[in-house]
Amino acid sequence: FMSDTIALYVIDRKGEKQTINAEVGKTLKDVIIREIEMDHFGDCGGCCACATCHVYIKDEWLDKISAKDDDEESMLDQAFDVKHTSRLSCQISLSEDLDGIELELAPE
Ligand code: FES
Repeated sequence: FMSDTIALYVIDRKGEKQTINAEVGKTLKDVIIREIEMDHFGDCGGCCACATCHVYIKDEWLDKISAKDDDEESMLDQAFDVKHTSRLSCQISLSEDLDGIELELAPE
């Protein structure tokens, strides 16, 4: 059985854990913007040009997400507080495989 809705566990910028129900096929960035109120997240609208949608993916989920392309790599090169778990959430499309994914929003 595959559901069209998956659960995301997100630690927001205040350090609070939020559970989000998200539709498969949306980008991670769009769902976070819809569910978590904050300034300056996803400012470029998802065209990989701002890095404000920066998130840290919990290690065990990293290899379930499609690899970074060159644009994402070079944008992350210019971002702050980058870790090995860093991704730009506008470049991540939600699939059934990501049901239960845990992540943390990078600081503004
Ligand atoms: Fe700007 Fe992701 S929304 S890089």
